[in-house]
Amino acid sequence: MLESIGLTLRPGEYLAIMGESGVGKSTLLNLLAGLDRADAGSVELEGVNLAGLDDDATTLLRRRAVGFVFQAFHVLPYLTVRQNVALPLELLAVPDPERRRRTLEMLEAVGIGGLAERFPRELSGGEVQRIAIARALVHRPRLVLADEPTGNLDPRSATQILTLLRDQIKANAGAGILITHSRTAAETADRILRLDAGGLHEIGGGAGRDGAVERGGAAVGRSDSAVERAGAVERAGAVERAGAVERAGAGERAGGAQIGRVSGTPAA
Ligand SMILES: Nc1ncnc2c1ncn2[C@@H]1O[C@H](COP(=O)(O)OP(=O)(O)OP(=O)(O)O)[C@@H](O)[C@H]1O
Ligand SMILES: [Mg+2]
Repeated sequence: MLESIGLTLRPGEYLAIMGESGVGKSTLLNLLAGLDRADAGSVELEGVNLAGLDDDATTLLRRRAVGFVFQAFHVLPYLTVRQNVALPLELLAVPDPERRRRTLEMLEAVGIGGLAERFPRELSGGEVQRIAIARALVHRPRLVLADEPTGNLDPRSATQILTLLRDQIKANAGAGILITHSRTAAETADRILRLDAGGLHEIGGGAGRDGAVERGGAAVGRSDSAVERAGAVERAGAVERAGAVERAGAGERAGGAQIGRVSGTPAA
């Protein structure tokens, strides 16, 4: 699974990835989030190679740096809407008045402010999807990974949510990957890549131009020297970035720093 991938995400980059069912899109996101382990190649998050971290350290890094909208939502049924969305802040020990305020703001932003004290089973599929999106964004992660986040929404709501997703990623100086089967949805990203058996290929979009798929071929994950070189340059900023997760705003982003990287031939 997933051979020859060379993908580097830098601050401000928002990519859409399309591709046939079963090709490995969700697997790729799981690798980047440290939910799956690569048994070849390497995966780095904020310049840290996940292979060098144990499960606890990976979890801590993920909590802080990643917001994940799962394809299957994974909303907790016994928690209210508000409690579900507050979870990432709770895990980061954000104290209560602030936690509550940010949670309610996020619920408003995704259009379910009025449902805060309801339980997921009392909501429509589209409303549950909004919980999952709010939960992925509430802690302002540097890397947002969204796996078909609007599959259950009507086109108008989908566009509204995708715009919100995009705006939040940009506002946090973060990076994002949107997995989707919808070309219309994909168009909300800066660039569109296709994942197939040969790797990742650019197929459209085009606001940000530098380095989503590493240069020198469409899928050049095997080019170790390129990976090494880029890694050396970017690692310099890693420590500094690690301490500055809760950055104040977009202005502080380091130009060439990497947020996420999958390289070589990670297999899962
Ligand atoms: N936990 C797992 N253990 C073993 N194989 C898995 C696991 N999860 C997925 N797979 C397999 O890995 C391949 C890629 O799955 P993945 O979920 O990444 O596809 P996808 O591109 O996200 O597809 P879709 O568009 O349908 O969501 C599939 O053949 C799938 O059956
Ligand atoms: Mg999938």
